[in-house]
Amino acid sequence: MKLGVNLDHIATIREARKTNEPDPVQAALLAELGGADGITVHLRGDRRHIKERDVELLKQVVKTRLNVEMAATDEMVDIALRIMPHQVTLVPERREEITTEGGLDIILQGEFIKPAISNLLAAGIEVSIFVDPDPDQVRACAKLGVGAIEINTGKYAEGNDPETQLELISKTAKLASKIGLRVLAGHGLNYHNVLPVVRIKEIEELNIGHSIISRAVYVGLERAVREMKDLLRRD
Ligand code: PXP
Repeated sequence: MKLGVNLDHIATIREARKTNEPDPVQAALLAELGGADGITVHLRGDRRHIKERDVELLKQVVKTRLNVEMAATDEMVDIALRIMPHQVTLVPERREEITTEGGLDIILQGEFIKPAISNLLAAGIEVSIFVDPDPDQVRACAKLGVGAIEINTGKYAEGNDPETQLELISKTAKLASKIGLRVLAGHGLNYHNVLPVVRIKEIEELNIGHSIISRAVYVGLERAVREMKDLLRRD
């Protein structure tokens, strides 16, 4: 199973002070050293964390694959065509949301986002669509010519009836794989809930962000304090 590491919250910490650290580029290099198969960032319309410049720099330094999550707007498609990430994942976006709240409704919006998909594909950028675990959404995606879907694991991760949610994710993954789509999944996955998703063999890659960045704080904080203490020592 491949791992795409979402680095949005490295930039969230940076933006808390509007300074230049921590830097998503440096974090990407470390994530790759740790074995990440890809780096994901979400360029939001309000630029609350990742900025265009981050995406430009990441495109230059990422040695694995750069996946940029974005809304299917003209502005975002223009940016993708200029920077040329390996992959774009189309997501719905609401300014007021704290994080992506659900998958794109392709049954409803397929026709609307078709031009964006065509432009990205024509430029040679792989396109994935973030959808809820619903076989009807997968069938609608297949008609748009994209090569991949990312199944939203958010509801499963929330923990309300996880067995039913897991079953839906599995059913959706099987159908997508049968149709010939690459199957990714993500949202809300962490060190406690990831294993049942890993067992779904049609899913080839997981995109995980918040829990990895959170864990990085825990596993790194002791050393960071010790290094500062060393500097404060008066011998
Ligand atoms: N996949 C998509 C489409 C997302 O929008 C996000 C959050 O930015 C993730 C995966 C990663 O979710 P999390 O940060 O909860 O691991």
